Amino acid sequence: MGRRPDMERIEEVADLRRVLAPVRADGRRIGLVPTMGALHRGHLSHVPLLLAHADLVVMSVFVNPLQFGPGEDFERYPRSLEDDAKLAEEAGVDLLFCPQVTTLYPPGSETLVELPDLSSQLEGAVRPTHFRGVATVVAKLLNIVRPDLASFGQKDLQQLLVVRRLVSDLHFDVQILAVPTAREPDGLALSSRNAYLGADDRREAAALNRACRAGFDAVAAGERAASRVEAVMAEVLNGFPRVRPDYAVVRRLDDLKPMTVVSGRAAVLVAARVGSTRLLDNLVMDVTPDGVREIRG
Ligand code: PAF
Repeated sequence: MGRRPDMERIEEVADLRRVLAPVRADGRRIGLVPTMGALHRGHLSHVPLLLAHADLVVMSVFVNPLQFGPGEDFERYPRSLEDDAKLAEEAGVDLLFCPQVTTLYPPGSETLVELPDLSSQLEGAVRPTHFRGVATVVAKLLNIVRPDLASFGQKDLQQLLVVRRLVSDLHFDVQILAVPTAREPDGLALSSRNAYLGADDRREAAALNRACRAGFDAVAAGERAASRVEAVMAEVLNGFPRVRPDYAVVRRLDDLKPMTVVSGRAAVLVAARVGSTRLLDNLVMDVTPDGVREIRG
Protein backbone atom coordinates (compact mmCIF):
# COMPACT_ATOMS: atom_id res chain seq x y z
CA MET A 1 0.00 0.00 0.00
CA GLY A 2 1.41 3.44 -0.87
CA ARG A 3 1.93 6.19 1.68
CA ARG A 4 -1.07 8.45 2.27
CA PRO A 5 -0.51 11.91 0.80
CA ASP A 6 0.25 14.64 3.36
CA MET A 7 -2.74 16.12 5.11
CA GLU A 8 -3.92 19.32 3.47
CA ARG A 9 -4.92 22.33 5.61
CA ILE A 10 -7.74 24.43 4.15
CA GLU A 11 -9.35 27.66 5.41
CA GLU A 12 -11.70 28.66 2.59
CA VAL A 13 -15.04 27.06 1.70
CA ALA A 14 -14.40 27.33 -2.06
CA ASP A 15 -11.00 25.58 -1.71
CA LEU A 16 -12.51 22.74 0.31
CA ARG A 17 -15.28 22.25 -2.24
CA ARG A 18 -12.73 22.29 -5.08
CA VAL A 19 -10.68 19.54 -3.40
CA LEU A 20 -13.71 17.43 -2.49
CA ALA A 21 -15.51 17.64 -5.88
CA PRO A 22 -13.33 15.01 -7.65
CA VAL A 23 -13.44 12.75 -4.56
CA ARG A 24 -17.22 12.76 -4.73
CA ALA A 25 -17.20 12.40 -8.52
CA ASP A 26 -15.02 9.26 -8.16
CA GLY A 27 -17.67 7.78 -5.86
CA ARG A 28 -15.31 7.88 -2.89
CA ARG A 29 -16.99 8.33 0.49
CA ILE A 30 -16.26 11.31 2.70
CA GLY A 31 -16.27 11.24 6.52
CA LEU A 32 -16.36 14.36 8.70
CA VAL A 33 -15.22 14.84 12.31
CA PRO A 34 -16.33 18.28 13.51
CA THR A 35 -14.18 19.55 16.42
CA MET A 36 -13.29 22.74 18.22
CA GLY A 37 -9.64 21.66 18.31
CA ALA A 38 -7.55 21.07 21.47
CA LEU A 39 -7.56 17.50 20.20
CA HIS A 40 -7.27 14.57 22.56
CA ARG A 41 -7.45 10.78 22.27
CA GLY A 42 -11.27 10.98 22.21
CA HIS A 43 -11.33 13.14 19.05
CA LEU A 44 -8.66 11.02 17.39
CA SER A 45 -10.64 7.82 18.06
CA HIS A 46 -13.23 9.05 15.54
CA VAL A 47 -10.82 8.78 12.64
CA PRO A 48 -10.39 4.96 12.37
CA LEU A 49 -14.12 4.52 12.98
CA LEU A 50 -14.88 6.83 10.07
CA LEU A 51 -12.20 5.24 7.88
CA ALA A 52 -13.99 1.90 8.33
CA HIS A 53 -16.85 3.41 6.28
CA ALA A 54 -15.22 6.26 4.34
CA ASP A 55 -12.31 6.69 1.92
CA LEU A 56 -11.29 10.14 3.09
CA VAL A 57 -11.66 11.97 6.41
CA VAL A 58 -12.14 15.72 6.81
CA MET A 59 -11.66 17.13 10.30
CA SER A 60 -12.93 20.62 11.04
CA VAL A 61 -11.28 22.70 13.75
CA PHE A 62 -13.40 25.73 14.57
CA VAL A 63 -14.05 27.31 17.96
CA ASN A 64 -17.62 28.33 17.27
CA PRO A 65 -18.45 31.63 18.98
CA LEU A 66 -22.19 31.11 18.53
CA GLN A 67 -22.34 28.18 20.95
CA PHE A 68 -20.77 30.11 23.85
CA GLY A 69 -23.05 32.22 26.03
CA PRO A 70 -22.10 35.56 27.59
CA GLY A 71 -19.52 35.04 30.34
CA GLU A 72 -18.59 31.53 29.10
CA ASP A 73 -15.10 30.44 28.10
CA PHE A 74 -14.97 31.41 24.38
CA GLU A 75 -11.92 33.66 24.84
CA ARG A 76 -9.95 31.19 26.95
CA TYR A 77 -11.05 27.99 25.16
CA PRO A 78 -7.75 26.14 24.41
CA ARG A 79 -6.49 26.81 20.89
CA SER A 80 -3.56 24.73 19.61
CA LEU A 81 -3.85 24.52 15.83
CA GLU A 82 -0.24 23.48 15.15
CA ASP A 83 -0.38 20.60 17.65
CA ASP A 84 -3.87 19.68 16.42
CA ALA A 85 -2.63 19.53 12.82
CA LYS A 86 0.19 17.13 13.78
CA LEU A 87 -2.14 14.88 15.78
CA ALA A 88 -4.79 14.89 13.07
CA GLU A 89 -2.27 13.96 10.38
CA GLU A 90 -0.81 11.13 12.49
CA ALA A 91 -4.35 9.84 13.11
CA GLY A 92 -5.02 9.61 9.36
CA VAL A 93 -7.02 12.78 8.67
CA ASP A 94 -6.79 13.76 4.98
CA LEU A 95 -8.07 17.33 5.08
CA LEU A 96 -8.07 19.76 8.01
CA PHE A 97 -10.70 22.46 7.55
CA CYS A 98 -9.92 25.40 9.84
CA PRO A 99 -11.99 28.39 8.74
CA GLN A 100 -11.87 31.89 10.23
CA VAL A 101 -14.94 33.12 12.14
CA THR A 102 -15.76 35.55 9.30
CA THR A 103 -15.70 32.67 6.80
CA LEU A 104 -18.47 30.75 8.58
CA TYR A 105 -20.24 33.90 9.80
CA PRO A 106 -19.63 36.59 7.15
CA PRO A 107 -20.88 40.08 8.04
CA GLY A 108 -24.65 40.20 7.54
CA SER A 109 -25.24 36.46 8.01
CA GLU A 110 -28.24 35.90 10.25
CA THR A 111 -29.65 32.41 9.67
CA LEU A 112 -29.96 30.31 12.82
CA VAL A 113 -30.97 26.68 13.29
CA GLU A 114 -33.18 26.21 16.33
CA LEU A 115 -34.61 23.05 17.94
CA PRO A 116 -36.82 24.62 20.58
CA ASP A 117 -37.90 21.49 22.44
CA LEU A 118 -34.87 19.19 22.49
CA SER A 119 -32.61 22.20 23.09
CA SER A 120 -34.49 23.64 26.02
CA GLN A 121 -33.90 20.92 28.62
CA LEU A 122 -30.83 19.79 30.61
CA GLU A 123 -27.87 21.59 28.98
CA GLY A 124 -30.27 24.01 27.29
CA ALA A 125 -31.79 25.01 30.62
CA VAL A 126 -28.33 26.01 31.89
CA ARG A 127 -26.96 27.32 28.53
CA PRO A 128 -30.04 28.67 26.70
CA THR A 129 -28.34 29.62 23.38
CA HIS A 130 -25.82 26.77 23.27
CA PHE A 131 -27.61 24.30 20.99
CA ARG A 132 -28.74 27.03 18.60
CA GLY A 133 -25.03 27.73 18.10
CA VAL A 134 -24.16 24.04 17.75
CA ALA A 135 -27.04 23.31 15.35
CA THR A 136 -26.23 26.35 13.20
CA VAL A 137 -22.54 25.53 12.83
CA VAL A 138 -23.16 21.80 12.29
CA ALA A 139 -25.69 22.61 9.54
CA LYS A 140 -23.09 24.88 7.90
CA LEU A 141 -20.35 22.23 8.15
CA LEU A 142 -22.60 19.50 6.75
CA ASN A 143 -23.57 21.78 3.89
CA ILE A 144 -19.98 22.80 3.14
CA VAL A 145 -18.37 19.34 3.38
CA ARG A 146 -21.39 17.28 2.26
CA PRO A 147 -19.97 14.17 3.97
CA ASP A 148 -21.45 10.70 3.58
CA LEU A 149 -21.03 10.24 7.30
CA ALA A 150 -20.15 12.46 10.25
CA SER A 151 -19.14 11.43 13.75
CA PHE A 152 -20.11 12.93 17.11
CA GLY A 153 -19.01 11.86 20.58
CA GLN A 154 -21.44 10.12 22.90
CA LYS A 155 -20.00 12.19 25.78
CA ASP A 156 -22.07 15.15 24.55
CA LEU A 157 -25.21 13.05 24.38
CA GLN A 158 -27.71 15.89 24.05
CA GLN A 159 -25.61 17.40 21.25
CA LEU A 160 -25.61 14.03 19.48
CA LEU A 161 -29.41 13.89 19.71
CA VAL A 162 -29.73 17.49 18.52
CA VAL A 163 -27.55 16.66 15.52
CA ARG A 164 -29.52 13.54 14.70
CA ARG A 165 -32.77 15.51 14.91
CA LEU A 166 -31.52 18.37 12.72
CA VAL A 167 -30.19 15.93 10.12
CA SER A 168 -33.59 14.28 9.97
CA ASP A 169 -35.61 17.54 10.06
CA LEU A 170 -33.49 19.27 7.40
CA HIS A 171 -33.14 16.12 5.24
CA PHE A 172 -29.35 16.14 5.23
CA ASP A 173 -28.17 13.08 3.31
CA VAL A 174 -25.62 11.98 5.90
CA GLN A 175 -25.23 9.10 8.32
CA ILE A 176 -24.41 10.10 11.90
CA LEU A 177 -21.95 7.89 13.74
CA ALA A 178 -21.95 7.97 17.57
CA VAL A 179 -18.46 7.45 19.00
CA PRO A 180 -18.06 5.91 22.49
CA THR A 181 -16.67 8.16 25.22
CA ALA A 182 -12.91 7.90 25.76
CA ARG A 183 -11.93 7.93 29.44
CA GLU A 184 -8.99 8.39 31.79
CA PRO A 185 -8.11 5.34 33.92
CA ASP A 186 -10.22 6.72 36.84
CA GLY A 187 -13.26 7.04 34.56
CA LEU A 188 -13.12 10.80 33.84
CA ALA A 189 -14.52 11.39 30.34
CA LEU A 190 -11.96 13.04 28.06
CA SER A 191 -12.81 16.66 27.28
CA SER A 192 -10.77 19.62 26.06
CA ARG A 193 -12.05 21.45 29.16
CA ASN A 194 -10.26 18.94 31.45
CA ALA A 195 -7.21 21.12 30.76
CA TYR A 196 -8.76 23.75 33.06
CA LEU A 197 -8.82 21.39 36.08
CA GLY A 198 -6.35 22.16 38.87
CA ALA A 199 -4.92 19.20 40.84
CA ASP A 200 -7.61 19.30 43.57
CA ASP A 201 -10.43 19.53 41.02
CA ARG A 202 -8.89 16.79 38.90
CA ARG A 203 -8.93 14.42 41.90
CA GLU A 204 -12.70 14.90 42.23
CA ALA A 205 -13.61 15.09 38.54
CA ALA A 206 -14.20 11.34 38.18
CA ALA A 207 -17.22 11.85 40.50
CA LEU A 208 -19.40 12.42 37.42
CA ASN A 209 -18.57 9.00 36.04
CA ARG A 210 -18.93 7.45 39.50
CA ALA A 211 -22.44 8.93 39.77
CA CYS A 212 -23.43 7.71 36.28
CA ARG A 213 -22.02 4.27 37.03
CA ALA A 214 -23.94 4.16 40.36
CA GLY A 215 -27.17 5.11 38.54
CA PHE A 216 -26.54 2.47 35.89
CA ASP A 217 -25.68 -0.16 38.52
CA ALA A 218 -28.87 0.63 40.45
CA VAL A 219 -30.94 -0.01 37.32
CA ALA A 220 -28.90 -3.14 36.53
CA ALA A 221 -29.62 -4.37 40.08
CA GLY A 222 -33.35 -4.04 39.46
CA GLU A 223 -34.25 -0.49 40.56
CA ARG A 224 -36.85 0.93 38.18
CA ALA A 225 -38.07 4.05 40.03
CA ALA A 226 -36.36 7.00 38.32
CA SER A 227 -36.50 9.09 41.50
CA ARG A 228 -34.57 6.43 43.43
CA VAL A 229 -31.97 6.06 40.67
CA GLU A 230 -31.49 9.84 40.74
CA ALA A 231 -31.19 9.79 44.55
CA VAL A 232 -28.37 7.23 44.27
CA MET A 233 -26.57 9.47 41.78
CA ALA A 234 -27.04 12.58 43.96
CA GLU A 235 -25.65 10.74 46.97
CA VAL A 236 -22.45 9.87 45.11
CA LEU A 237 -21.96 13.49 44.03
CA ASN A 238 -22.60 14.68 47.60
CA GLY A 239 -19.44 12.85 48.65
CA PHE A 240 -17.30 15.26 46.58
CA PRO A 241 -17.14 18.75 48.12
CA ARG A 242 -15.66 20.46 45.01
CA VAL A 243 -18.43 19.09 42.75
CA ARG A 244 -21.56 21.27 42.33
CA PRO A 245 -24.12 19.41 40.18
CA ASP A 246 -26.46 21.15 37.71
CA TYR A 247 -28.32 17.88 37.21
CA ALA A 248 -27.98 14.14 37.83
CA VAL A 249 -30.91 12.45 36.12
CA VAL A 250 -32.19 9.41 34.27
CA ARG A 251 -34.03 10.23 31.03
CA ARG A 252 -35.58 8.58 27.99
CA LEU A 253 -32.90 8.29 25.33
CA ASP A 254 -34.93 9.44 22.34
CA ASP A 255 -35.95 12.89 23.57
CA LEU A 256 -34.30 13.18 27.00
CA LYS A 257 -37.70 13.64 28.62
CA PRO A 258 -38.14 12.56 32.27
CA MET A 259 -39.62 9.15 33.02
CA THR A 260 -41.12 7.75 36.19
CA VAL A 261 -40.29 4.10 35.55
CA VAL A 262 -36.98 3.31 33.87
CA SER A 263 -37.56 1.12 30.81
CA GLY A 264 -36.47 0.84 27.20
CA ARG A 265 -33.60 2.96 25.94
CA ALA A 266 -32.55 5.38 28.67
CA ALA A 267 -29.57 7.45 29.77
CA VAL A 268 -28.15 8.59 33.08
CA LEU A 269 -26.71 12.08 32.67
CA VAL A 270 -24.70 14.33 34.97
CA ALA A 271 -23.52 17.91 34.54
CA ALA A 272 -21.55 19.58 37.29
CA ARG A 273 -19.05 22.29 38.04
CA VAL A 274 -15.84 20.91 39.49
CA GLY A 275 -14.22 24.02 40.93
CA SER A 276 -14.90 26.49 38.12
CA THR A 277 -14.89 23.90 35.28
CA ARG A 278 -18.20 22.62 33.94
CA LEU A 279 -18.10 18.93 32.97
CA LEU A 280 -20.60 16.43 31.53
CA ASP A 281 -20.92 12.67 31.53
CA ASN A 282 -23.52 10.00 30.77
CA LEU A 283 -24.09 6.30 30.26
CA VAL A 284 -26.67 4.93 27.85
CA MET A 285 -28.57 1.72 28.47
CA ASP A 286 -31.23 -0.55 27.09
CA VAL A 287 -33.58 -1.81 29.81
CA THR A 288 -35.61 -4.85 28.79
CA PRO A 289 -37.43 -7.56 30.77
CA ASP A 290 -34.33 -9.73 30.12
CA GLY A 291 -31.90 -7.29 31.75
CA VAL A 292 -29.91 -4.10 31.32
CA ARG A 293 -27.29 -3.60 28.63
CA GLU A 294 -24.95 -0.63 28.27
CA ILE A 295 -25.00 0.95 24.81
CA ARG A 296 -21.63 2.36 23.72
CA GLY A 297 -21.64 4.40 20.51
O1 PAF B 1 -18.53 18.99 20.19
C1 PAF B 1 -17.92 19.96 19.69
O2 PAF B 1 -16.69 20.03 19.69
C2 PAF B 1 -18.70 21.10 19.08
O3 PAF B 1 -19.87 21.34 19.79
C3 PAF B 1 -18.98 20.91 17.58
C4 PAF B 1 -19.85 19.70 17.31
C5 PAF B 1 -17.66 20.75 16.82
C6 PAF B 1 -19.71 22.12 17.02
O4 PAF B 1 -18.97 23.28 17.20
